[in-house]
Amino acid sequence: MKDTSRKKIVVFSGAGISAESGIKTFRDSGGLWEEHRIEDVATPEAWFNNPELVTMFYNQRRKQMMEAHPNEGHLAIAKLESQFQVTVVTQNVDDLHERAGSTDVLHLHGELRKSRSSVDNSLVYEVDGWELTADSKCELGSRLRPHIVWFGEQVPMMAPASEEVMQADILIIVGTSLEVYPAAGLVRIAPSKCIKYYVDPKATQISGVNNLEVIQGRAGEAMPELVEQLIKQYGC
Ligand code: OAD
Repeated sequence: MKDTSRKKIVVFSGAGISAESGIKTFRDSGGLWEEHRIEDVATPEAWFNNPELVTMFYNQRRKQMMEAHPNEGHLAIAKLESQFQVTVVTQNVDDLHERAGSTDVLHLHGELRKSRSSVDNSLVYEVDGWELTADSKCELGSRLRPHIVWFGEQVPMMAPASEEVMQADILIIVGTSLEVYPAAGLVRIAPSKCIKYYVDPKATQISGVNNLEVIQGRAGEAMPELVEQLIKQYGC
């Protein structure tokens, strides 16, 4: 049962929250999309044309995730749960929010630690270790693909994520360039009375979003400060 006497906080995170854990972002200089073409590794066509390359790309991401640790930003977000109802809506496919202690995490773009059948989307499995291979098969005998939402695919978690954002008293947007839709559109459907923060070294005001405080800074530094402030101001 959710405790509705507590304020509801939705944290909408992107790759920047994991940057200080050593996981590369996508669009910063030196980011993943400078090294790899999206169409080669992150589309259904890429999987059809070269499943080896796609599998290898996500194996590397999974290995890196397993070697990384949550940083002060993830830990601060987990701490919010002591005083608020918190849902983390993340674009990230890593599990660092969960490993920091967040208990309600919705992954919009999939999860590296899971794989799924390439013929039946409902067959989802935990990946044992970091590596999927050509021999990794679902129970129907088809090759397992990474449980990732690729460009050009539906985002099934958008509906539950929208529900969460529409009920938020406080929305914290952190570590995202807000360039990828439909995910980025979530920030525009929060209620106008919802108090909003955007934490990112490149944060600016967002057109169409009112009641927004822009905090230009790294998540590992700015999030612990913001969390302390929120606990003092709005905590139970
Ligand atoms: P981007 O790479 O587009 O943006 C990363 C953001 O993190 C930028 O705004 C940076 O300024 C910020 N940043 C960098 N270091 C930071 C730090 N220490 N603290 C806080 N912020 C920092 O990543 P996303 O917005 O997450 O999708 O990208 C969205 C989606 O595009 C991803 O989920 C992925 C990608 O293509 C798929 O693969 C489907």
